[in-house]
Amino acid sequence: MERFARYLSPEKVAFFQSVGIDFVFGRREGPYVWDVEGPRRLINCHCNGGVFNLGHRHPEIIRVLKENLSELDIGNHHFISEPRARLAKKMAELSPGDITNTIFGVSGGEAIDLALKVARGYTGRHKIISASGAYHGHTGLALATGDAKYRDPFGPNLPGFVQIPFNDVSALAAEMDENTAAVIFETIPATLGMPIPDPDFYSNVKKACERHGALLIVDEIQTGLGRTGTLWGCEQFGIVPDILVTGKGLSGGIYPISATCLRSDLNGVFSKDPFIHISTFGGAEIGCEVALAVLELSSNPDFLQHVNALAAFFKGAFKSLQSKHPQILVGLRQLGLMMGIEMVNEMCGPVLSKTMFDNGVLSVYANNDTRVSQFLPPLIIDMELAEEIMQRVDRALEDARRMLEL
Ligand SMILES: Cc1ncc(COP(=O)(O)O)c(C=O)c1O
Repeated sequence: MERFARYLSPEKVAFFQSVGIDFVFGRREGPYVWDVEGPRRLINCHCNGGVFNLGHRHPEIIRVLKENLSELDIGNHHFISEPRARLAKKMAELSPGDITNTIFGVSGGEAIDLALKVARGYTGRHKIISASGAYHGHTGLALATGDAKYRDPFGPNLPGFVQIPFNDVSALAAEMDENTAAVIFETIPATLGMPIPDPDFYSNVKKACERHGALLIVDEIQTGLGRTGTLWGCEQFGIVPDILVTGKGLSGGIYPISATCLRSDLNGVFSKDPFIHISTFGGAEIGCEVALAVLELSSNPDFLQHVNALAAFFKGAFKSLQSKHPQILVGLRQLGLMMGIEMVNEMCGPVLSKTMFDNGVLSVYANNDTRVSQFLPPLIIDMELAEEIMQRVDRALEDARRMLEL
C-alpha cells in the first residue's frame, strides 16, 4: 500500500483506507479473490463489470492461453492474420442479424471510439446522442458521450454530443435530426444503476434511427457474452443494432481484447483507405485464441440455461428479502444476471458496498446513481454458492440498515 501510494495514487489508498476496504487482490480462482496478506476471501460479485463472467482464471482459458503461447505472440496489426480472421468469423456467426464484420481493439473505450468514428464516416454527419448518466469509456469520443463531471476538468468539450434521459422516446425524438449520425446506448446502463428500459424502448429507438437515417450503436461491453441470459443483451429486446460493441469479458479476464462489430456496408468507411484506422495491440493473435475460447464457452446453450436458472433464483431470493428489509431495499433491477440492488436513498450504495465487503462479498455501487449497488456475480457459480451469496446479502442489508439508522 505504501508503494502504491508513493508511485501510483496516494488519494486512492487514502480513500480505501478511510472506508475500511483495505483489500489487495492476491490469489484468485473461480468466483473467489483472497487478500494478498490475510485470510480474507471475497466472492467477486463485481467482476469488473463482466471481465470475470467466467470467474477468475477459468481452466479452459488458461489452457488455451498456455497452449498458444508455445507458438503465438501479438502478431502484426497491419498484416493478414489467421487467428484474427477465425475470431471475426466466429463473431459474425454469433452476432445478431446482418452484422458480419469486426474490427478489434484492446479496451472498451477504444472500441466505442471506433464505433462513433464509423457512424460519422458512414453517415457524413456529426451528432451523437447518448443517455445522461451512461458510461462508454474515458477515451476521446467515448468520454464525450458521458457526463460533464468526467470531461469538464480536461479542457474544451468536443462538439456534436448530446445527452438525453435513458428510456425516454420523446426526448430522443426531440433530438433526432438530419445531423444525427448515431444513437448510442448501453443495453442496460450499468453506471446508471441498471435501469431496465420499457420492453418496446429499443424497437422505438430503432424505428427513430431508421426514420432519420441514423445508426444505432449498442454498447454490450457489460451486457454481452451471456450476462443477461442470452448471448447479447439486445436480443432480449428483439432488435438488431447497426453496430455492436463488446469488450471486458471477451478477454476471459486474461488477455485484453475488444471488438466493434458492423454490418458489411458500414465497413465501406474503410474501403478507400483500409489503413485509416489501426490499433497495434487490437486483435493481438494470442488474445484472439483466448476470445475464441470465451465465445465457445459463453454461447453454449447449457451455459445460457444455467445463467437463466441462476437469474430465476436471485429474482425469488430478492423478493423474499424485500419483505424482510423494506426500510432499505426497494427491489432488484434485473435482466438475467445483470442486476442492480435498488435501495431507498443515495447513501445506501456506498454503505452497502462496505457491509457487503465485511460480509465477504465484493459488490460496488453505481457511480451515477448511488442508490443502487451493482450486483454481478460470475456466470459460472453453482446454486449452492448463489444461496450462500444471498445469505451474505441478507446480513449486509441488515448491517447497512443499522448503520444508516433506517
Ligand atoms: C458499458 C461500458 N462501456 C465502455 C466501457 C469502457 O471500457 P474500458 O474500460 O475497457 O475502456 C466500460 C467500462 O467500464 C463499460 O462498462
